[in-house]
Amino acid sequence: MEALHKLLLFGVLFSILATCTSQDTMTVDQVIRDGDTLVSAREVYELGFFSPGSSKNRYLGIWYKNILPQTVVWVANRETPITDSSGVFTLATNGSLLVIAGSNNTVVWSSNTSLVSPTTINPVAQLLDMGNLVVRRNGEESFIWQSFDYPGDTFLPGMKFGKDLVSGLDRRYRSWKSLDDPSPGEFVGFMDTNGFPQLIEDNGSIPLMRYGPWNGNSFNGLSYHQPNSPFKHEFVFNDKEVYYMYTIVNTNSFISRIYVNPQGDFYRLTWIEQQWKPYWQAKPDMQCFAYGICGPNGMCNASNSPACSCMQGFEPRNPDEWSASVWSSGCRRRTPLDCPTKDGFQEFINVRLPDTRRSWYNMTMTLDECASACKNNCSCIAYSNIYITNGSGCLLWFGDLVDVATVIQSQPLYVRMAQSDITNVPVTEPTSKPSSNKKRGIIVVLLSISSCLVIVIVILAIVYAWSKKRRYIVKTPDELTKTIDEDSIMESQHDDDTELSYFSLAEISKSTNDFSEDKKLGQGGFGPVYMGMLDDGREIAVKKLSKTSTQGVNEFRNELKFIAKLQHRNLVKLLGYCNEGDESMLIYEYMPNRSLDLLIFDKIRSVKLDWSNRFHIIHGIVRGLLYLHHDSRLKIVHRDLKASNILLDADMNPKISDFGLARMFRDQENAANTSKVVGTL
Ligand SMILES: *[C@@H]1O[C@H](CO)[C@@H](O)[C@H](O)[C@H]1NC(C)=O
Ligand SMILES: *[C@@H]1O[C@H](CO)[C@@H](O)[C@H](O)[C@H]1NC(C)=O
Ligand SMILES: *[C@@H]1O[C@H](CO)[C@@H](O)[C@H](O)[C@H]1NC(C)=O
Ligand SMILES: *[C@@H]1O[C@H](CO)[C@@H](O)[C@H](O)[C@H]1NC(C)=O
Ligand SMILES: *[C@@H]1O[C@H](CO)[C@@H](O)[C@H](O)[C@H]1NC(C)=O
Ligand SMILES: *[C@@H]1O[C@H](CO)[C@@H](O)[C@H](O)[C@H]1NC(C)=O
Ligand SMILES: *[C@@H]1O[C@H](CO)[C@@H](O)[C@H](O)[C@H]1NC(C)=O
Ligand SMILES: *[C@@H]1O[C@H](CO)[C@@H](O)[C@H](O)[C@H]1NC(C)=O
Repeated sequence: MEALHKLLLFGVLFSILATCTSQDTMTVDQVIRDGDTLVSAREVYELGFFSPGSSKNRYLGIWYKNILPQTVVWVANRETPITDSSGVFTLATNGSLLVIAGSNNTVVWSSNTSLVSPTTINPVAQLLDMGNLVVRRNGEESFIWQSFDYPGDTFLPGMKFGKDLVSGLDRRYRSWKSLDDPSPGEFVGFMDTNGFPQLIEDNGSIPLMRYGPWNGNSFNGLSYHQPNSPFKHEFVFNDKEVYYMYTIVNTNSFISRIYVNPQGDFYRLTWIEQQWKPYWQAKPDMQCFAYGICGPNGMCNASNSPACSCMQGFEPRNPDEWSASVWSSGCRRRTPLDCPTKDGFQEFINVRLPDTRRSWYNMTMTLDECASACKNNCSCIAYSNIYITNGSGCLLWFGDLVDVATVIQSQPLYVRMAQSDITNVPVTEPTSKPSSNKKRGIIVVLLSISSCLVIVIVILAIVYAWSKKRRYIVKTPDELTKTIDEDSIMESQHDDDTELSYFSLAEISKSTNDFSEDKKLGQGGFGPVYMGMLDDGREIAVKKLSKTSTQGVNEFRNELKFIAKLQHRNLVKLLGYCNEGDESMLIYEYMPNRSLDLLIFDKIRSVKLDWSNRFHIIHGIVRGLLYLHHDSRLKIVHRDLKASNILLDADMNPKISDFGLARMFRDQENAANTSKVVGTL
């Protein structure tokens, strides 16, 4: 009897342990109860039951383990909440993930996975560090089910946004109803494959925003992706699938997600300084983002007021409505076409290409082939190439041109038009009122010249005031500053051969005994410096940007910018950085012999410095300088070289530190002027 009792107790304990310890995999019949969680291996994501906003309903979801407030990226039972805390999540023998309401034992959500021979091969479920919940046969790589195929309102890096043309799987985003209710809202974003693929967001079943066709670099009309962007964008279009996917170049450098809020606003967010900051956004109430706002053959120019006009060669279909700022009826041709003899093509540059849902395309045709294909078919209204990158591919439009707008950069669009309506220069500016246009042009030019002047004067004034203030450098705190911004980190991070590590605040805090006074090495230009020891035994020096330091931000940035790119044995080595909340820190290798000034100005310690040592140090400093001025990829003048900025390692090798005031010369430059005096007073 007692043995049985013990056995039972053991069983209970075992099952508690099995579910409570941090694990990322789940085997058949193992359960996650409401309150327990599954945590991905590197503790990036966590899966469990949660209640959104002020709701009391329970949902099974995935969120970031270390981000507060809780940011949910995926929800299983979006439409079927559990009303109490009896929820259970488990993996059935047939490979189906199940969410069960424990109180009445009903399955409220199932992944519908099904194995052919469930008994012979054990399925396992795993929460991956990408945020993907997957089911696979034990020991196999391929997934039989993955949450990435069933997105909610969030697209994470590595998720495919689009269609599998073979299986018909369509990965769309769908907003939540409200922040309290994850059930599907009105806003759906999807890859539309009628005509050439493009991304569209619908409100109900009416298009709300459109992100244009892919041009080889970005979606047409959206900002061009720079080669040094922290994101890598990919568009795949072949017989089997068509999708857009983004990844982060330097995988663990920052956290980002695409998110659509319950109002349908589209965001690319990054987690910076403990906040979700928009890296890019599109909202229907932004000028020219609302789909087809100017009606058929209308042209939207966000810097015009009103934004809508007709494309060149077109005139308002309903002038009364148009003059009352009702654009929906759009524009019609000024002169009817006389195909095929009497018409030609007008070039428009830097316009968002029209809706491609009724387009025809060929990925390999050249622009010449494209032009003749359009010329030879009288129902073809416009053409353009597909790839802005190399000018290949052909897109033809039939019918009205919808949702055209001026954009920063796009491939040219050629629109069929009566010869009399064609100008020889490409149109960049829509001309709805040709007569008054010149005058307005002059006014615009005058206005922009005068506003430019004002801006220049303001900038000069600011620069002057600032340089006055900085005249003698300024190692005194005056204004409270904010921490380094995302760009400076990304900039320094995405230079190919830097290998900066990111350290978490917790890690640094632990290594320095919570920044205890006895670990303090001294006070630098921008704040205290601490000594620390990492878990792997490495000794580090932590330079903390003090919250009240002014110099701080710029110098911190400068230091990060330069030192990360420099490598020489006579320069101090930056190991990484930490930027959490309002704490910013740089982490260096630790120099046991501290700085040179502590040696030469100290009666006792200076004895340690015999002449051969002194020569060795001088030699090293000079070698470091030679590297900075001459041999490094960047030419750098340190501008604050002094004994306290020379650090000594265990073997008394000198290392130049503190690049907060350093300045870079361009490649071929041998001289430059500076308008401010810097250094130490
Ligand atoms: C079981 O309970 C859940 C919530 O706890 C509820 O949504 C569901 O309707 C119930 N099902 C049945 C059959 O009672
Ligand atoms: C699973 O299949 C059922 C029945 O076909 C369907 O109602 C349910 O929505 C499916 N669930 C998921 C998560 O696809
Ligand atoms: C898998 O098994 C579960 C529990 O036995 C069942 O509810 C579910 O319907 C099964 N799913 C499929 C797709 O057969
Ligand atoms: C979406 O459509 C509904 C119903 O037509 C409308 O009331 C609402 O204003 C639309 N929302 C947006 C953001 O356009
Ligand atoms: C043009 O560039 C795209 C990608 O930007 C590529 O897929 C295509 O093969 C290129 N075509 C030619 C003819 O080089
Ligand atoms: C595209 O155009 C090329 C060249 O004109 C042609 O060889 C090819 O068959 C076309 N492809 C399709 C899918 O029409
Ligand atoms: C013109 O193009 C349309 C759409 O592709 C096609 O249906 C029609 O047959 C073409 N006409 C001619 C004359 O080639
Ligand atoms: C948009 O309008 C502004 C202001 O009238 C004008 O300067 C600009 O050229 C227009 N842009 C394009 C691409 O037409």
